Amino acid sequence: MLSPDNKLYVAHSANGPIYINGEMANRHGLIAGATGTGKTVSLQVVAETFSQAGVPCFMADMKGDLSGISQTGKMSGFIEKRCAEFGIEDPKFAGNPTRFYDVFGEQGFPMRTTVSAMGPQLLSRILELNDTQEGVLNILFRIADEANLLLLDLKDLRMMLDFVGKNAASFTTQYGNISPASVGAIQRAILTLENQGGQQFFGEPAFDVEDLLDKENGRGVMNVLVADKLMLQPKLYSTFLLWLITELYSKMPEVGDMALPKLVFFFDEAHTLFEGTSKALTDKIEQVIRLIRSKGVGIYFVTQAPTDLPDNVLGQLGNRIQHALRAYTPKDQKVVRTVADTFRANPEFKTADVITELATGEALVSFLDEKGAPSVVERARILFPLSQIGAITAGQRMDIQNAAPAKIKEYNSVIDRESAYEILTAQYEAEAEAAEKALQEKEKEEAKAAKEKEKAAAKKSSSKKVNRTILGTLATAAATTFARSLANSAAKSITTGKKTSSSKSTSSKKTSSSKAGTAVQKATKSAANKVTRTITNEVLKSILKGL
Ligand SMILES: Nc1ncnc2c1ncn2[C@@H]1O[C@H](COP(=O)(O)OP(=O)(O)OP(=O)(O)O)[C@@H](O)[C@H]1O
Ligand SMILES: [Mg+2]
Repeated sequence: MLSPDNKLYVAHSANGPIYINGEMANRHGLIAGATGTGKTVSLQVVAETFSQAGVPCFMADMKGDLSGISQTGKMSGFIEKRCAEFGIEDPKFAGNPTRFYDVFGEQGFPMRTTVSAMGPQLLSRILELNDTQEGVLNILFRIADEANLLLLDLKDLRMMLDFVGKNAASFTTQYGNISPASVGAIQRAILTLENQGGQQFFGEPAFDVEDLLDKENGRGVMNVLVADKLMLQPKLYSTFLLWLITELYSKMPEVGDMALPKLVFFFDEAHTLFEGTSKALTDKIEQVIRLIRSKGVGIYFVTQAPTDLPDNVLGQLGNRIQHALRAYTPKDQKVVRTVADTFRANPEFKTADVITELATGEALVSFLDEKGAPSVVERARILFPLSQIGAITAGQRMDIQNAAPAKIKEYNSVIDRESAYEILTAQYEAEAEAAEKALQEKEKEEAKAAKEKEKAAAKKSSSKKVNRTILGTLATAAATTFARSLANSAAKSITTGKKTSSSKSTSSKKTSSSKAGTAVQKATKSAANKVTRTITNEVLKSILKGL
């Protein structure tokens, strides 16, 4: 709480009140301790003290218990005791101006960023890519940049990857190797991220970090990131917060020494930031943390054991609240000794012994003095928060969301402007349409040619047929008539001869003469047919010759 003379009063030792030095509050800090020792409440006490002094804060709420920071606290037996110990009369319980954010957009306003703002390095970390795959992602960003293809959301990234993969041969000579295996691995990683809800995380409207700097009625706004679900993906969580810090660093102007920081950023579960991180990224994190100070931003890491953080980061955390550590195993005891050694010793007690004895809400405290030197470590009790300890109800959360300013409510809308996905989809569609059209045209031509060929063939064959039919009929008729007349006259002469003889002969003769007549008739008919065929052929030949 803010003291009557506007000092950042956060703890109390046997020697009296302990204040955070406002001018040194941007020299970063650490809140550490085993589970259940009071870290979250300490964060709440420190943050609301900054808020009362007009400094906005950002913090992630891991279990929902930080949401109480938005509501008015109330007296309890524990607080009553502390008031008596610290000589505080009539504490002014009050909630803090609060805004809830949620990358999944469920319990707070969506906090999005674009793929291009995240950049290939941080994106590779989220996607858990290896060096070769990160190289391909770098190439992809360059190609997109040179082709003016915006990478906003994950579908832009997926489409761009597809484009780069399909044209790998032409890009490889200019930019370096793009193997199908790497493209496939990145594609799978994007799919995994999408399944984890990553598509809500990338897109527009992108979060403007300047919105974290708001004040309401002279008090700094508490920007609370709902992180219970996000925490299930520690890489996504930590990389997102790293992006926020990087973005703050690049957007905020350089400031000289200030009486108070412009923003205080609490990084809970801070160890996740460094787990499985490459040396290059750890160096970058360390650098950003060091430089962001000059922008008036203080970063306070919250973690169980300080030894979870790299030394070069730990060395930058000047303001410390160390809650109890357990020392059950030799490894634990080593951690306790290491942590104790990082404090400026107090002749009144042995730091390593006290660390394991601290009660809930009690801590070893050391803040930077006006010269930037760490103060002698004190065994202290952390103040109680004036806001509510513990989670709020869904109804209370809804009321806070409804009371948010219009510019914050705009984050609820989704913008999907023209970017790589739309441009490449349109290009693919145009190409497919042109190919389809060409195919149709070709088929049409082929069908037309086939039809014409058929027509020509049909015409030729039908004219021959017609000729043959007409000529055949004519010739057959002529030949038949001619043969019939020949046969008739032959038959007549035979029949006449027989008639003369038969008038004189017996009936048996008559029978034999009639048999002979039938035979003659048959022979005549066959001869006539033969003659007909021969004549027909001859006539046809002569006619066809003339054609
Ligand atoms: N400064 C304090 N003033 C009043 N109550 C406190 C204080 N510190 C801790 N407590 C009490 O102790 C409980 C546990 O504290 P807290 O939730 O902060 O622990 P933690 O270290 O954050 O635990 P975890 O690691 O499980 O998150 C609180 O719910 C609260 O009741
Ligand atoms: Mg906690």
